[in-house]
Amino acid sequence: MRRAYIAGNWKMNLTPSEGAKYAASLAEAVKKEAPDCRVMIAPSFVSIPAVLNAVKGSDIIVAAQNMANHLSGAYTGEVSPEMLLDLGVRTVILGHSERRQYYGETDEIINSKVLLALSLKMDVVLCVGETLEERKSGRLEEVLKRQLEVGLKDVLPEEMEHITIAYEPVWAIGTGETATPEDADGAHSFIRFTVASLYSDDIAKNLIIQYGGSVKAGNVKALMAKENVDGALVGGASLTLEQFLPIITYSK
Ligand code: 13P
Repeated sequence: MRRAYIAGNWKMNLTPSEGAKYAASLAEAVKKEAPDCRVMIAPSFVSIPAVLNAVKGSDIIVAAQNMANHLSGAYTGEVSPEMLLDLGVRTVILGHSERRQYYGETDEIINSKVLLALSLKMDVVLCVGETLEERKSGRLEEVLKRQLEVGLKDVLPEEMEHITIAYEPVWAIGTGETATPEDADGAHSFIRFTVASLYSDDIAKNLIIQYGGSVKAGNVKALMAKENVDGALVGGASLTLEQFLPIITYSK
């Protein structure tokens, strides 16, 4: 049985004080509503300490949106996974399409981060997804296969329980365009098939695959009803309690 896993990627939104205030109200709501799913939020690096403090005593997972592919050294502006661990952050989102698109992160760079995070026993949400042009030219499967093969290169079978995949079609992010539940299920099923061929049927069966791209209260139920959709990675609609709470309590 795969337990649903719903995450809020705050991206570059909410200051530390805004984030802490919102996170405290979310923690309270989660305690009261007891959603069936695992809930994660990923604030910006500078907001992490305040947010961790605000959700203390709740089950909310606080994750980072990125990390360096080095432990320490002369890498100006970067944040080391050891610094995250020191704060108590054990989960990291890697390979988000905005990192790929705006900051030149290649599958190889992302793979080095995945391997480093796993070596420190961190949990990883690895993002994959095609652009509109790639989808239109019939390259969806080729792109997903490459992102998975290279992104997971040298990841051991026993480490796969620390990996969640987030399928985020680039054309559906922040655009209001959502993949239909059928589109999402099709892509997720291909991801599961690819992981089965790289690892085993068992590992693929247990793999949590989140969908991301304009997930809202109004479409989460239909997406989550699909066999291969195990969760969501939510951007815009994760920024307020009014929008995020109905998403994480979609099954109620
Ligand atoms: P939106 O929900 O704003 O489309 O963002 C999705 C996303 O990129 C989450 O990582």
